[in-house]
Amino acid sequence: MNRIPICVPSGTYPLIVSSGGVEDLGSVVAANGFVSGRVFVVTNPIVGALYLDTACSSLSAAGLTPVPIEIPDGEVHKTIDTWRALVDQLVDARIDRSTPVLALGGGVTGDIAGFAAATAMRGVPLIQVPTTLLAMVDSSVGGKTGVNTPRGKNLVGAFHQPELVFAPLGVLQTLALEEVRAGMAEVVKHAVLGDPELWSILRTRGPDIVAGRDPDGLAQCVVRSGVYKASVVARDEREAGVRSLLNFGHTVGHAIEAVARGRLRHGTCVALGMRAELRHGVSVGRTPSWVAEELDEVLMALGLPLRTPSDLARDGMVRAAAHDKKRVRGTVRVPVVSHIGTASCIAVSLAEVAEMVAHLDTTVPPGELVRTVDVVENP
Ligand code: NAD
Ligand code: GLY
Repeated sequence: MNRIPICVPSGTYPLIVSSGGVEDLGSVVAANGFVSGRVFVVTNPIVGALYLDTACSSLSAAGLTPVPIEIPDGEVHKTIDTWRALVDQLVDARIDRSTPVLALGGGVTGDIAGFAAATAMRGVPLIQVPTTLLAMVDSSVGGKTGVNTPRGKNLVGAFHQPELVFAPLGVLQTLALEEVRAGMAEVVKHAVLGDPELWSILRTRGPDIVAGRDPDGLAQCVVRSGVYKASVVARDEREAGVRSLLNFGHTVGHAIEAVARGRLRHGTCVALGMRAELRHGVSVGRTPSWVAEELDEVLMALGLPLRTPSDLARDGMVRAAAHDKKRVRGTVRVPVVSHIGTASCIAVSLAEVAEMVAHLDTTVPPGELVRTVDVVENP
């Protein structure tokens, strides 16, 4: 097992990356300070059917009393209503401030359960057990929790750091290929921003990692992403400065997601957003063109799309970006990539964000390798 310390001003906790599955959950949780009492295990029907029994047996064997709670699956359910129903169940079950909430699932489950843990009784301990690649490499670490509103993504939320993040790589074997690809978008983000060695792993081994033929490469993606993200949140826990780097691809990506209304995966939108933001950087002379060309190559090798569906209204995206919670006095802080592994943040106007959105449709290379976006069924 790899143990990566996440050190933020509000405390230190480990990201533990294991090559196994959730059968080790109980011993890991107990070894990290939760030795008895109840644990509220929040999951959805898909992940629950696969892993809830094993997770609960493992927690029971370690001396804990798991209490499962189900929330609905899918981004469209990442809402205030789902959060309120979850908090009601926790309160009805007489949760107290020492009882942990354990999020067993992808980023949607982690964000909702994390927000419930941040708010129920003004805050209870949180354990993140990410089961998607995206949640392992990004959302489970760093303490951002929250839900969407009809106005946009993650507009209601709180910073609430977990006590423990346990990433059991074995569960990724049941994850759909499109979800693996979506998770790789956040790995690409970390490589571009701060890890040239991870970039070269993606360039040389990306297709094998996505296809499940390179477990060591997959583990490196999770561990190296954790190390990079830890280095950023340690310097800026609450996104007052350098943490804005981690929003690379998200200013445009969230705007696409808002217009797509659950039809496109978060990671897919981030991939499209990174491309547009980087292309804009090239057009205004902040980013060398070879960086954008390499990004296209890597995205294509990972099976991520370069083309944004034309039926998603670009003007709607610009309007959605105006509601972005990162906006401060009419500007948004966006990363500028000057080299692979080197980036800094600048404030740009909403007019410049509109130019970034326009770059969704520029310089998309022709040919077979350019995938179109996979759409989520029944969002
Ligand atoms: P998700 O949670 O919707 O999971 C994707 C799908 O995979 C779901 O249907 C889920 O039930 C299923 N699934 C999960 N684990 C599985 C497994 N092991 N086997 C089979 N199926 C499995 O999506 P996601 O991509 O994990 O997360 C996206 C969310 O994360 C977005 O809401 C995004 O805003 C959020 N996010 C948050 C942060 C943060 O810092 N808090 C960072 C990045 C993204
Ligand atoms: N996913 C961006 C962040 O955690 O800050």
